[in-house]
Amino acid sequence: MLLEVSHLSKIYRKGKIEIPALSNVSFSMQSGDFFSIVGRSGSGKSTLLNLVGGLDRGSSGSIRFEGRDMAGMNRQEMAMHRRFSVGMIFQSFNLIHSRTAHENVELALAFGGASRTKRRQVARELLGSVGLQDRVDHRPDELSGGETQRVAIARALANNPRVLLADEPTGNLDSETSAEIVALLKRLNKDHRLSIILVTHDQETAEAVSDRIIRLKDGQVVEFL
Ligand SMILES: Nc1ncnc2c1ncn2[C@@H]1O[C@H](COP(=O)(O)OP(=O)(O)OP(=O)(O)O)[C@@H](O)[C@H]1O
Ligand SMILES: [Mg+2]
Repeated sequence: MLLEVSHLSKIYRKGKIEIPALSNVSFSMQSGDFFSIVGRSGSGKSTLLNLVGGLDRGSSGSIRFEGRDMAGMNRQEMAMHRRFSVGMIFQSFNLIHSRTAHENVELALAFGGASRTKRRQVARELLGSVGLQDRVDHRPDELSGGETQRVAIARALANNPRVLLADEPTGNLDSETSAEIVALLKRLNKDHRLSIILVTHDQETAEAVSDRIIRLKDGQVVEFL
């Protein structure tokens, strides 16, 4: 099993106030699955993705990633998890603006320890695989929104992650470009058996591309289709 989430809860503490962002969430996911997470703003979607991605820790319950309980990971192991086990894509791209598409992807490869020659070659291949072979030397401000998001996808794939975590990757895009990005994710899933968890507001998209849909409401799973 790729991922086993069991009775997972997350309570944020802000001063004296406790915010229960996730309550008793359980599901499991096999390698090669395409999952979508849907739910209203504030329902806990990003919180769940961030916990699986190792950006934060749960308050109770457990996440097993390839059989390993993430609660048992120390800081360094969490950093390795973020670098090698998952690839994350954010709604707002999070690319380095002063660097070209190629340099943004290369940088992720450098963090993964690839040699200079290898980085150059793999970055080119990855950008080619998302259809950006003619835009490698463009900086984010010289790319369209859809192109920028494709750079973010190429970067997320740099170190061969076991799962791609995409937090509303189409949130800033028009519907046609969104459809292209979603089609690209689906192709990666089908052709490379890449496991994907996609957070989306769009029920139709979720139904069209995913094997299973998790619906969150107030931090709880209210539907698992
Ligand atoms: N760092 C934090 N500290 C305190 N509360 C937080 C923090 N991050 C999120 N929350 C709260 O936790 C709840 C869940 O937030 P989360 O970001 O997971 O929602 P979401 O489903 O991703 O929403 P959206 O669709 O708007 O992105 C919200 O009520 C939010 O205000
Ligand atoms: Mg969110």
